Amino acid sequence: MQYKFILNDLETTQRLAKGIAQVIVPNFVVSLSGNLGAGKTTLTREVLRNLGITGSIKSPTFTLVEPYQLPDYTLYHFDLYRFSDPEEWFDAGFDEYFSVPQVSFIEWAEKAQGLIPQIDWQITISFKHNLRELIIDSLTITGDTCLTKLINSDVI
Ligand SMILES: Nc1ncnc2c1ncn2[C@@H]1O[C@H](COP(=O)(O)OP(=O)(O)OP(=O)(O)O)[C@@H](O)[C@H]1O
Ligand SMILES: [Mg+2]
Repeated sequence: MQYKFILNDLETTQRLAKGIAQVIVPNFVVSLSGNLGAGKTTLTREVLRNLGITGSIKSPTFTLVEPYQLPDYTLYHFDLYRFSDPEEWFDAGFDEYFSVPQVSFIEWAEKAQGLIPQIDWQITISFKHNLRELIIDSLTITGDTCLTKLINSDVI
């Protein structure tokens, strides 16, 4: 299942992020692809804000992952841009992060291609002529259920 959104401005992104925050469930995995500056961190940050995270939300560019403790699960914000080899996913012990209730947003997931456990949504953002296009490809049944809820949501 696939759905395309046009993001004209930050406000549209904030509304989409609010919708995403309302539909995701524990053990949901989202990959985020798109060029440098496409808006992967911005979208994730807005989702975190809507889940109640206050204070600074840093891009995990250097730390590779930033964890956020929520009542029902840990939300991991990964950024794999600095990986030079997919095996670094195991070297960093990231596969073990999936043994607890979690939700993961993974920027540059393609850098660990094939090693990330079941991805529910593959989000691709492209930025051209001042317009952002965001495509959600749902890859699982849970992903389809959440995407249907998002499309029917009154916040977007
Ligand atoms: N939806 C949006 N509307 C307006 N501006 C945006 C939007 N998304 C991102 N930006 C702006 O674009 C810049 C880069 O965004 P961001 O850091 O989210 O990109 P990124 O895809 O995470 O890049 P990287 O691959 O380097 O991690 C930021 O300055 C941000 O303010
Ligand atoms: Mg980023």
